[in-house]
Amino acid sequence: MSEQRAIALPEDRFQIVEPAGAILGDRFAQDVAAGLLAPRKHLASKYLYDAIGSALFEAICLLPEYYLTAAETQILHEHGWAIVRALGEPADFFELGSGSAGKTGLLIDDAVRAHGSLCYSPVDISTGAMIAGCRALIERFPTLRVRAYAGDYFHVLQSPQLRFDGRVLAMFMGSNIGNYEPLQAEELLAALAARLRSGDGLLLGIDACKERATLEAAYDDPTGVTAAFDKNLLARINRELGGSFDLRNFDHVAEYDEERGCVASFLEARAACRVWIAAIEREVIFEAGERIHTESSYKYSLDQIEALARRAGFLPGERWLDADKRFSVNLFVRA
Ligand code: TRP
Repeated sequence: MSEQRAIALPEDRFQIVEPAGAILGDRFAQDVAAGLLAPRKHLASKYLYDAIGSALFEAICLLPEYYLTAAETQILHEHGWAIVRALGEPADFFELGSGSAGKTGLLIDDAVRAHGSLCYSPVDISTGAMIAGCRALIERFPTLRVRAYAGDYFHVLQSPQLRFDGRVLAMFMGSNIGNYEPLQAEELLAALAARLRSGDGLLLGIDACKERATLEAAYDDPTGVTAAFDKNLLARINRELGGSFDLRNFDHVAEYDEERGCVASFLEARAACRVWIAAIEREVIFEAGERIHTESSYKYSLDQIEALARRAGFLPGERWLDADKRFSVNLFVRA
């Protein structure tokens, strides 16, 4: 990463901040040990996004079955102008989980047109994808300044190095909030609220409940890209922690749990196996059919997302839907 930084970045407009403790380091090994030695095996979804995982996720966003990106993009295309003006005064952008920041470009374009210039502060655990995305933005918008934070959301939100100058529009798009268990989602939004000032905005892009077949296809596409994305987590353990997973012995499974309103993703062992992971000096034992939970994607109705935001200290503002009402972009204001 330091090498990338050395290549002709316009330093005056692009800053990268790495708050202490926000970079993962040994925590990957510790979390893998805790998750795979637990009675119900699980791995945190943030680890899906190494360089390969981030590239596969970009491919997921192009799949016809993964309607979320198209629906959200449609909303930003149609209502971006209203969105960037909804707070009534210019606001800098603070985005949790920018990825490569493709869709955000639409809003940045509208904000720059409306206000002349903008400061954009993304936070992402996938530093490479974030830097590449920010570079493209810096080149495209001559009046844009970027202050990017590398690391995990909670660490960045708690860091004294996180600072804002004026009015802020925080953004959490792509249904990312849905990847948290409801209580954690509330904690995360409350931690965000604690760093914002009264009158600052929060934009939440979230997927809505719909038929099982549509949801399950979105999280298990017939091309197999989503399966590759999920299985890359085992490959990452092999690469980075000296694991011995045979990827061919694992299947990606996506199941919609109607009661909880969430799609759960798992990696399921076809046959019993034993996997040695050198970095934690442990063997992990799988029975045939045993699963590792890798991600939950909660879906929210308009009422549910409003209730969540209120509990975290925000008041409801405007909201926008795509033509098929599959997805919503919701503005909230810090009370
Ligand atoms: N934030 C995305 C979502 O919940 C992440 C995602 C898409 C994902 N497809 C996946 C995570 C498949 C695990 C498996 O929609």
